[in-house]
Amino acid sequence: MTATTTAWRELAHQLADEMAAEGVLQSPAWRDAVEATPRHVFVPRFYVQQQDGQWTETSADDDEWLAAVYRNEPLITDLATTANGNRVTVSSSTKPGLMVRMLETLDVHDGHRVLEIGTGTGYNVALLSHRLGSDRVFSVDIGAELVDAARGRLTELGLTPTLAATHGAEGLPEHGPFDRIIATCSVPTVPWAWAEQVHEGGLVLVDVKPSTHAGNLVLLTRYADRLEGRFLPRWAGFMAMRDADLAPEVGSLIEDVNTGSRSSTRLEPTPWSSLVPWFLVQTRMPGKVAFGYLGATDQGPEWAVFSTPDGSWSAVRMQPDENGEREVRQGGPVPLWDAFEAIHETWDNLGRPNWDRLGLTITPDGRHRLWLDEPDGEVSWSLLPR
Ligand SMILES: C[S@@+](CC[C@H](N)C(=O)[O-])C[C@H]1O[C@@H](n2cnc3c(N)ncnc32)[C@H](O)[C@@H]1O
Repeated sequence: MTATTTAWRELAHQLADEMAAEGVLQSPAWRDAVEATPRHVFVPRFYVQQQDGQWTETSADDDEWLAAVYRNEPLITDLATTANGNRVTVSSSTKPGLMVRMLETLDVHDGHRVLEIGTGTGYNVALLSHRLGSDRVFSVDIGAELVDAARGRLTELGLTPTLAATHGAEGLPEHGPFDRIIATCSVPTVPWAWAEQVHEGGLVLVDVKPSTHAGNLVLLTRYADRLEGRFLPRWAGFMAMRDADLAPEVGSLIEDVNTGSRSSTRLEPTPWSSLVPWFLVQTRMPGKVAFGYLGATDQGPEWAVFSTPDGSWSAVRMQPDENGEREVRQGGPVPLWDAFEAIHETWDNLGRPNWDRLGLTITPDGRHRLWLDEPDGEVSWSLLPR
């Protein structure tokens, strides 16, 4: 028996303790699953991006690997190269605390059949298989090699859930209906195919994000004519669903901010400084918003830049002036920053509602109605299909 095989149980136990202390791990059944699942088998190597943009790899040959794998942190486990030569993340092992928070929220009972979208390393499939039995667990990933690797690791541990390399938006109709669907990649809108594959009264837990950082986890109940539910109070972010087994294309960002109209703002320019308004403004955006930076100063990037596929763009200076104002430049058909300012004001006037006051209703025609407080309340927005 190697040092690894003896040490990991103690590390998994400590990880469970840490998640319990944080309040995310609550039930004995999920504690058993965490303590019985060797995360190191699912993460034989991981990647870390350095300041200069280069990636370093840490694997089982490195001393720090084992302890790192049992930390309550997400680990990037697969990279792919884009058409313009950039190496980007295509798969990761989700932060265990987030995974367990989702599993607890999913309200799984003995005998349930669960479909996961986004197999990745297979770690979460292992937790589910331990909890429910392999024959009740199904998982799909668009990455064929990821699925093969996950299957190998699971088999090594005596677990034999049903895995398939397929586009998760289709679900897995030949094995439905399920009691629960859990997605570990984000979607711009929820595919109706998932509703069709969940029993009435069943649940779908998914990160709805039409653009980067714009959205959150929502727990949807299947009713006869709709999926409906509330966003989770705590924000979380998953990597976006890809349409092919390739590196996702990064949206084009503008190269010259000097052509645009000029104004100023008192708001912070990064999406994560105003997550709820940034989500709400997606209902006004002409398409998926790409976010990035342009230029450099001694204090970091010069401009925060937003752009959409129709050619609309806005750039906001990262650093405010002495009056707290930041310069704004905008171009293209839709002034994106103006739309954000307007929705931010609406959100202010509504009393700055947080995620726990927002919900979503999805109907078979694909409509996504985003509502405040109650499904039939007075305030709602319409999320456009992407
Ligand atoms: C955060 S990782 C999943 C983590 C995984 N559940 C685990 O326990 O390791 C997200 C995964 O979603 C997958 N994914 C992206 N687009 C997809 C799609 N269209 N269909 C299915 N899976 C997809 C990625 O390949 C990636 O493996």
